[in-house]
Amino acid sequence: MRNRPLILRTIKELRIQVQAWKADGLHVGLVPTMGALHAGHLSLVDEISKKTDRVIASIFVNPTQFAVGEDLESYPRNEADDVNKLANHPCDLVFAPDVTEMYPEGFQTTVSLTGVTKGLEGASRPGHFDSVATVVSKLINQCMPDVAIFGEKDYQQLQVIRRFVRDLNINVEIIGGKLVREDDGLAMSSRNVYLSANDRAIAGQLNVILRDLVQAVEAGAPLREAEAQATRFLLKAGFKAVDYVSIRDAQSLEEVSEINRPARVLAVARIGKVRLLDNMAIEA
Ligand code: PAJ
Repeated sequence: MRNRPLILRTIKELRIQVQAWKADGLHVGLVPTMGALHAGHLSLVDEISKKTDRVIASIFVNPTQFAVGEDLESYPRNEADDVNKLANHPCDLVFAPDVTEMYPEGFQTTVSLTGVTKGLEGASRPGHFDSVATVVSKLINQCMPDVAIFGEKDYQQLQVIRRFVRDLNINVEIIGGKLVREDDGLAMSSRNVYLSANDRAIAGQLNVILRDLVQAVEAGAPLREAEAQATRFLLKAGFKAVDYVSIRDAQSLEEVSEINRPARVLAVARIGKVRLLDNMAIEA
């Protein structure tokens, strides 16, 4: 085990620590999370530590980004476990504010985007990305990092964050971290614990079906047909519903009709009560 990270819960204490690091000329990295850490989150800590001298992981289950009826109450929380895991990675500080520290009484501000938040998850979860943009803006202002990292697992979220950071001239470098998968290729997610054994077996098919789609499209298959075929295969594999399988421009996330620049297939399939997200690159 390395050194256990320092745990701070107030913005005031956090600022004193970060300012001391900066006064020493140290570069600071931030890994925002909602806890329930797995190897995907920890890979972001490892990755950002290569570019920075000090790493902050924030743990905050942001209530505003959960819609009514979503899993805010049951979202897995275990800070002690998370800190033990972080102790084996190059993490110096855990910032774990409570809800009133983040949203004191009278809070009224939202960072709201158009365009990149419109389709895909934005359509399925109205208001979700504005809540993410708001909390991530706050975390960046609070932690004052030189670099912040977000996983490609939540590919649209990463593009949303890149967009508002650029639009608002926020002085931080945003980097994307590779999607980390289980042995059968299922994208790691804190919500995978909700899957029954039977559903877990079906869940492993999502990445296989998307990989086949990528191969077919790179070999010249028509895009809309490839999306429709993947959707049929998912339903046949046992998924209860498919929210979308969509081939998009890798940056703007606009729909594309041909692959003449980097593209991405993004998909959400439902099984049990779980929405499984996945996405893969399509090379031009
Ligand atoms: P959370 O779901 O906890 O994810 C925290 C970070 O870990 C995100 O950047 C996410 O993309 C990344 N991540 C999750 N699973 C991953 C995997 N299998 N491989 C690589 N990276 C993975 O995303 C959020 O929290 C929140 O929306 C947050 C940005 C913290 C704002 O509240």
